[in-house]
Amino acid sequence: RNVVLAYSGGLDTSCILVWLIEQNYEVIAYMANIGQDEDFNSAKEKALKLGAKDFVCLDLRKEFVEDYIFPAIQANAIYEDRYLLGTSLARPCITKGLIKVAFEKNAAYISHGATGKGNDQVRFELSSYALKPDIEVISPWKIPEFYERFKGRTDLFNYASAHDIPLPVTPKNPWSMDANLLHISYESGILEKPECPAPDNIYQMTSNPSDWPDTADLIKIEFKKGTPVNVTNLGKSVSFSDPLDIMNYLNEIGKIHGIGRIDLVENRFVGMKSRGIYETPGGTILFHAHLDIELLTMDREVRKIKQSLVPKYSEIIYNGFWFSPEGDFMRDIITKSQENVDGSVTVSVFKGNVYIKARESNKSLYNETLVSMDVKGDYEPSDAAGFIKINAVRLKENYLQRGSKF
Ligand code: ARG
Ligand code: SIN
Repeated sequence: RNVVLAYSGGLDTSCILVWLIEQNYEVIAYMANIGQDEDFNSAKEKALKLGAKDFVCLDLRKEFVEDYIFPAIQANAIYEDRYLLGTSLARPCITKGLIKVAFEKNAAYISHGATGKGNDQVRFELSSYALKPDIEVISPWKIPEFYERFKGRTDLFNYASAHDIPLPVTPKNPWSMDANLLHISYESGILEKPECPAPDNIYQMTSNPSDWPDTADLIKIEFKKGTPVNVTNLGKSVSFSDPLDIMNYLNEIGKIHGIGRIDLVENRFVGMKSRGIYETPGGTILFHAHLDIELLTMDREVRKIKQSLVPKYSEIIYNGFWFSPEGDFMRDIITKSQENVDGSVTVSVFKGNVYIKARESNKSLYNETLVSMDVKGDYEPSDAAGFIKINAVRLKENYLQRGSKF
């Protein structure tokens, strides 16, 4: 009865760990390093002290950037026109590690501490079934014996005291946080009232406007097939080409200038609306730069089709279907669409904004001779007269049949 528990080191999953042992499971505590600020060693000690028979921490940072974040940038993925999917992308990555450990440790069960009302439970469980169909999921927050026993934090505290589970030293923030290399999200608690602004001191990945510097950072981002391959700070002559370094550096620059902070009400897959606050500094810079290099290098009609798929693909990711036939299909066509998306974009990062300044590419479809007002080139202006006339047929007909719009 081996169970791999997605462990956070916090009070909830510590109680779940002990509770699972009480139910006669042998617990393997699993953590994934996806760039969150975490003391993995003390979490390990804690888990083992609580009775976990094993602890595994996987460093998935590189995998998260290369296989999840960069492909999402290639796709211009964005949920409900606002959210860059920081948590939604992390869940399949974490779950893949979880299932890997389940195979290695011969575990028939996995367990997690996501609530029964959110998206995360759906993502963890759907990804698990997609990767190991015979896996058994133990989701305590959906099991009546568990959630009737632990009705609030007081019950968790009492249980913790009774079972030698160390209580949190710092009082818990009155909101829930989820952090990784792409973003931090804040929701629930005092944020549940969408009409109330979040406190200024909530933010960790972006600085407040009063701290924004008066000088911009000029950053050149180079893409190869739609994937960032180099980032250079032109003012400071520093340069990065390792994917993880690129992400970390853009997060650093984005933090200084307050990039990618949003506050919204979104639609959860399970049906309710929820208020969330997100900080996605580096991801926001990449998002804008990638849109720009695509416009330079991608055929107009291909781009139209590709962009029409953004809401659908983003919903697939948000709803937890990263590992699915439709997810694979989308990634195949997105990869195909990026064939010629090479080149670099220079952005000025300044006072909460990403200003696009310049771009260049040897795959550019831009033709100065063709577009210039000063050169005739291979384009007969008189041909445009017929083009417009033919396009006007329908408009004239509409007027004649349906009457004036004046
Ligand atoms: N609402 C966001 C999403 O569904 C963020 C969820 C944050 N999760 C968390 N456990 N705090 O992707
Ligand atoms: C949770 O309910 O565990 C966090 C929020 C979410 O998954 O949407």
